[in-house]
Parts: sequence; C-alpha cells; structure tokens
Amino acid sequence: MTKQGPPQVGNNLDPWYDHYSERAGGLRASEVRALFAVASRPEVVSLAGGMPFVSALPQDLVINAMDRVMVEQGATALQYGSGQGVPLLREQILEVMALEGIQANADDVVVTTGSQHALELVSKLFLDPGDVVLSEGPSYVTALVIFKSYQAEVEHVPMDEHGLIPQALREHIARLKAAGKTMKFLYTIPSFHNPAGVTLSWERRLEILEIARSNNILVLEDNPYGLLYFDHPAPDAMRSVERDGVIYLGTFSKTLAPGFRVGWALAPHAIREKLVLANEAAVLSPSSFTQLVISQYLATADWKGQINTFRGVYEERKNAMLSALGEHLPGLSWTNPNGGFYVWLTLPEQLDSKAMLPRAVKELVAYTPGTAFFADGDGRQNMRLSFCYPTPENIRVGVRRLATVIRGELDLLDTFAGTGIRSTADTSRRFGAPPPDIS
Ligand SMILES: Cc1ncc(COP(=O)(O)O)c(C=O)c1O
Repeated sequence: MTKQGPPQVGNNLDPWYDHYSERAGGLRASEVRALFAVASRPEVVSLAGGMPFVSALPQDLVINAMDRVMVEQGATALQYGSGQGVPLLREQILEVMALEGIQANADDVVVTTGSQHALELVSKLFLDPGDVVLSEGPSYVTALVIFKSYQAEVEHVPMDEHGLIPQALREHIARLKAAGKTMKFLYTIPSFHNPAGVTLSWERRLEILEIARSNNILVLEDNPYGLLYFDHPAPDAMRSVERDGVIYLGTFSKTLAPGFRVGWALAPHAIREKLVLANEAAVLSPSSFTQLVISQYLATADWKGQINTFRGVYEERKNAMLSALGEHLPGLSWTNPNGGFYVWLTLPEQLDSKAMLPRAVKELVAYTPGTAFFADGDGRQNMRLSFCYPTPENIRVGVRRLATVIRGELDLLDTFAGTGIRSTADTSRRFGAPPPDIS
C-alpha cells in the first residue's frame, strides 16, 4: 500500500477552500464591493445603492403596530409560525396585489423572507446545472448571483424603452432550442425595471406570455416597484391574465420597509406546495413578529396614503436627477422611468463605466457600473444611477461631480488620441447619439 500524504488543506487564506461545493463557486462578491465600502463615507454622494428612503415612513405608525402586536398577540408573535405565512397577512396581500389587477386565492400565497428569498427558493426548485434562465439584459444583480449559484446559464434578451423585445425573445428561444438547451424560466421585472428603469408595455406583456406558453417556459415575474409609479400606474401585472404559467413575486421592502424582510410568492397550486416545503426546509417559518406587525399596519394605518407619500418623494428625486443630467451631461442618453428607483445611463462608446468608478469615487460620487447587471461582462458603456436615497440637493451635487469625471475621462482620451494608448477619442462624437436600445 502506498503511503498517503497529508490531506489537502485548502490555501493560506481559507483552510476549507477545497471543501466547498461547486455551487459555492457561483457566490462571488461584486467586483466593486470594496469601492462601495469607500463610497459609503458621508462625503461621497452615492447614486449606487437601492435603499428605500425609509425616513419618509412616520416612525409612530410602525411603533403603534408593534405595540399592538405585542399587547394583543405577543405569544404568537414570538413563536414559530406556519411555513406558508400568517393566514391574515396572506389575505391582506391579496388586497395589495389587486391594485395591479391580480385575482388570487390566499392559499396560493407563500410568505418569504423578502422577495430575495423567494428568488432563491424558486431557483432551488427549478434549476439544475446547465439549465438556462432567460432574463432581460441588463437584469437585477442579486438574482443573477442566485441563478449562477445554482449553476444555471443566464441568457440575456435585449430591451428597448418599452421593455423586453418579444421578437428578440423568440429568436433567443429558437437558438437555444436548436442548441438542445433546457430553458426553465423567464425572469422578468416588467414594471420600473431594476436597473433599466423601463416598463414593459401591456401589448408586450401579452405577447411575451404567449411566447412563454407556447414554448412551455415558466414566467417568474418580479415586481417590487409596481406601486411606486409617478404619472400613471404601470400596466397590470402579467399574473393578472395568466394564472398557470406565472410565479409572481412581491415584497413590502419598497412600499413599507426592507428591514421587516417580508415578501411573498404567488404560485400555481402545485408549485406553491413545493415552495412551502422549500421555505420550511430553509427557515422553518418566516418571522412571525414582522409578519404580524405588517398585518397590523395594513389593518390600521393608511397604507395606500403612505405609498402615495413615497411616490411623491421618489418622483421629486427622479425629476432632480433628470434635470441635473440635462444640465450637466447634455447629449448623453438615459432612460426616463415612470416609477421605481433607477435611471440607466449610456456613456459615449469610448468610455468604460467600471474602469471609471475609482476616479468617480475620488471625485466623491458613486454609481453602479453596468457590468454588474450582466452575467456575461456586457454593460461597460452603461451605469445605473439610483435616485431613491439621496436628497434632491445631493442628487444635483452627485450628477455635477459625475459630469466632471466624464468630461475628465474624455479629455484624457483626447490627449492620448492617436498614440494607440486607448481607442481614439473623436471630440466630434463626444456625447454622441445614443444606441437604439439599452442592451
Ligand atoms: C428586482 C428586485 N427583486 C428583488 C429584490 C429583493 O427585495 P427584498 O427586499 O424583497 O428581498 C430587489 C431589491 O432591490 C429588487 O430590486
């Protein structure tokens, strides 16, 4: 018998390095995370994060709800609960979804620890290594992280200002079918998209549902921002017209507060059963305490009025961002969201948003580079600007600083034009015409 050497013991940084599952390889910190630590310094205007402005929520509304829960149902609130969620809250969630045209049964609602956890559970139920998830390009960064962690391949389908392009979806599906790929679901954020800020038109919602139906592909409709519209509501949810082929995800994170960590999935009946089992396996039950507080809040506070307040706050901030962009970066293109938190900006083609970020942070402004929102490294010419958290005044300051950085970059390129150091910067094309779509 040959003598065995000592077992492999990882590496210097992590002695357990070689113990991890293959799946864990998909869990990567964002490349720009370290910079964001710097960007959270108070002197930096961050247009990077997606934090709701919870200070617009009067604290006494929450304190009253918490008090009543503890006085009236303290023992239940502090106990484990059902893996599916508090029954009364599930009924109340039906009222919330009815605002976007959804008729459903509380029995098909599963309360989760934020909609992020619902994304995780759906992925766990459906994705095997090598499966394909179709998604808009760009798409929500932390959904992409989950899909990758289940070793799925993400296929981005382009959008324009009306959202996902149905013809492009058809073409991608045909190509993937021809390549023998298994497509499990289409992940979509139809209303006030993160990060693109666009909204899928009603006609396209119907067309995309038809494409999914005829190709036997589930639709995973993620809708955290739908109620946060500005001028007019978004079209009704896709789930409002398709019961069997859609898993719908909702959350209280943006219309109330993310600290509660309460979201939900509304699923076709058979899937709902599996989701409850997966939820129990993961967390036993979602927090009884926060579910009851939200239930109390919905029963006693003017929650629709509060959502109107949030809409007003975000609309004012969006207007501040768009007018500052118009003033300081004329000629660049960006989306004009009618709700939600985000603007998607397109840079002149010779600029790289990821390479430029350290210089921006040095100028005391932060954004999220477009590359974060693609699974395939695309998006260098784009950035996401969030208007949800900074005040309108800070947004104006941030955009002014950003313009300084962009001009500085272009000047640098001009200086080195023709030296071969980087692509030739042609001043006549500076802030040139936008490309036709935002993919
Ligand atoms: C598109 C999208 N889906 C899901 C989430 C997760 O939200 P939650 O706080 O409900 O987990 C977010 C949060 O930013 C989001 O933007």
